[in-house]
Amino acid sequence: MAGTVIGILGSPLPEGNTAKLLSQALKGAADAGCSTETILINNLDYQPCMEMLFCKEHDTCIMDDDMQQLYGKIQHADSVIVATPVMTMGIPGKLKSFIDRCQIFYMAKYVRNESLVAPEKRTVRRGLFICISGMKIPEVFVGSKLTMKAWFDIIDCQYSDELLINDMDTILDITTRKDLLDAAYAKGRAIGENLNP
Ligand SMILES: Cc1cc2nc3c(=O)[nH]c(=O)nc-3n(C[C@H](O)[C@H](O)[C@H](O)COP(=O)(O)O)c2cc1C
Repeated sequence: MAGTVIGILGSPLPEGNTAKLLSQALKGAADAGCSTETILINNLDYQPCMEMLFCKEHDTCIMDDDMQQLYGKIQHADSVIVATPVMTMGIPGKLKSFIDRCQIFYMAKYVRNESLVAPEKRTVRRGLFICISGMKIPEVFVGSKLTMKAWFDIIDCQYSDELLINDMDTILDITTRKDLLDAAYAKGRAIGENLNP
């Protein structure tokens, strides 16, 4: 196995449609030779960023909660897949708090000019964004994409691909759409093959 791909689930439903897409993408990465790990954001206990700015001068956050076990995983991952539903036109709150708590990567990279990510990883790390929405309106992914692009930049991952699926209120069950599950698999596999050419 070469390379670790982390999958982050922003949905509170571990068996929901988003979870199934993430699972397919991680299967693709695994079939390409990577080891994979899923992080279920909703099972973790952490607070939103409180702007104490400890991370301005230190490589971590002063808040002692479950984020402490995530920082190393994000730092050492070879690629990252985020899968989430849209909630109120953006990223669900718990996932957004996780992203905000990654300010330790922002401060290191942009303020102290010493990224927490090793130089050899920075050149290969890729980010895949999978997002689904209930409605079928043109702007439904705009807010989430802006947030994810900023976050991937902060953690030194190239935003390399996306799978955006709207109209889930009509589709209802993603297992009825083999084409979409196959697309998630193919995009995950491409992330893995980038690490195992
Ligand atoms: C609190 C909440 C807010 C939502 N807000 C939106 C929204 O703004 N736009 C939209 O298209 N769908 C919205 N949805 C619908 C979800 O994106 C959709 O049901 C999705 O398929 C849920 O995926 P999951 O079952 O994998 O978690 C919302 C759902 C919830 C629970």
